[in-house]
Amino acid sequence: MDRNYQEGPDYPKFLDNNDPLGHFRQRFYVKKDVIYMCGNSLGLASKEADEYTQKAMDVWKEEGIKMWNYDNAKYFLYSDYLAGMMAPIVGADANEIAVVSSTTVNIHQVISTFYKPTETRYKILVDDINFPTDRYVVDSQVRLKGYDPKDAVKIVSPYNGKFMDEDEIINNMTPDVAVVFLPTVYYRTAQILDMDKITKVAKERGIVIGWDLCHAVGAIEINLTDLDADFAVWCTYKYLNGGPGSAAALYINKRHFQMLPGMFGWYGNKTETQFALNQEFEHQQDASGWQLGSPTVASMAGLEGALKIFSEAGMDSIRKKSLHITGYLMFLIETKLLKYGFSIGNFKEDSKRGGHVCLEHDEAYKISTTLKKRGVVPDFRPPNVIRLAPVALYNTYQEVYDLVEILLNIAKTGSYKEVGDNRPLVV
Ligand SMILES: Cc1ncc(COP(=O)(O)O)c(C=O)c1O
Repeated sequence: MDRNYQEGPDYPKFLDNNDPLGHFRQRFYVKKDVIYMCGNSLGLASKEADEYTQKAMDVWKEEGIKMWNYDNAKYFLYSDYLAGMMAPIVGADANEIAVVSSTTVNIHQVISTFYKPTETRYKILVDDINFPTDRYVVDSQVRLKGYDPKDAVKIVSPYNGKFMDEDEIINNMTPDVAVVFLPTVYYRTAQILDMDKITKVAKERGIVIGWDLCHAVGAIEINLTDLDADFAVWCTYKYLNGGPGSAAALYINKRHFQMLPGMFGWYGNKTETQFALNQEFEHQQDASGWQLGSPTVASMAGLEGALKIFSEAGMDSIRKKSLHITGYLMFLIETKLLKYGFSIGNFKEDSKRGGHVCLEHDEAYKISTTLKKRGVVPDFRPPNVIRLAPVALYNTYQEVYDLVEILLNIAKTGSYKEVGDNRPLVV
């Protein structure tokens, strides 16, 4: 896609008219007069998500408990069903994926499975700029094994308070490290880590490695089979548009199917003997064996609809448009906003940035609040970042143009200065 962007007001119309994914917008509940730039936090509802949620409700209404056997036990085996739809998005085999629980619970599950400390190798390597739930889990898991996180959790910090250096991560992969657990895309800076490079070294050094794909899945192309890491986790409510609190996912490399999960639950039991209700756990030897309890159908049906759209659009086209439309946003910021104290807080190279743009400004909170009053939905991350995610499946180039015009107006008029300092619970 041509990156010789132009500044004028007719250019976004031209881009929208030539957008091969443009027709998907009508499949989403897009509000008139609202510019939604928050798909990196909670993706928009689609008509398919609505339809499949309604369908699950109808089956429940009609069938009651018989619902579990309805349509070849689709809902009883819903994780497997959705894993089949998810597989092409992350480049894994369907039986390496379970759609289950929340990301936080899944991190507990994979860390408790793969963290097997010995006297000499007992540390988990993480960073200190990832979304904090990952760290909370790691700290609590090392405690459960009797270690002090201050000793057993090894932290790599960003080199300038902001970006991670892959070589520094690799330098810290010392013989006392048992597990490396890192995000693919950083929630604040959108930085993409070189997963191949880090995973390769971890394997050479006999270190277990797993990835948090929350900010990557549905935004960038991923091939877990080629990567050959040990495990991964991700949520489905951001770029995948599965719905608020929709079931998350985990990946277990097929090399590890014979391992026992750290946490057992009856849904991880062999499907054939699950209803024998034996007291001893018989592990189902694929990723579905890492499930815990009953499928949360109400938080999975929307995802079924949302994934249908992904299989039609394809990750390749989605990533292409995402790079192009975020590139257009960065172009307009650089052309129009730099002189008003704004800067771009993410890498500009395609290979190093995910699906959102980090607009930085000393008054980011006030500007973000003013944007909301003007019909834009951004999100603010302290201390100075406004995250903006023009999403390939439903945002338009016109919206990006209009957003920058609104920002320009806010900056020129100084209207953001009227915003007070009291911040609500969810900013
Ligand atoms: C990188 C990362 N990991 C984990 C989570 C938390 O996921 P959940 O709420 O599904 O537990 C988030 C939430 O935004 C996240 O950004």
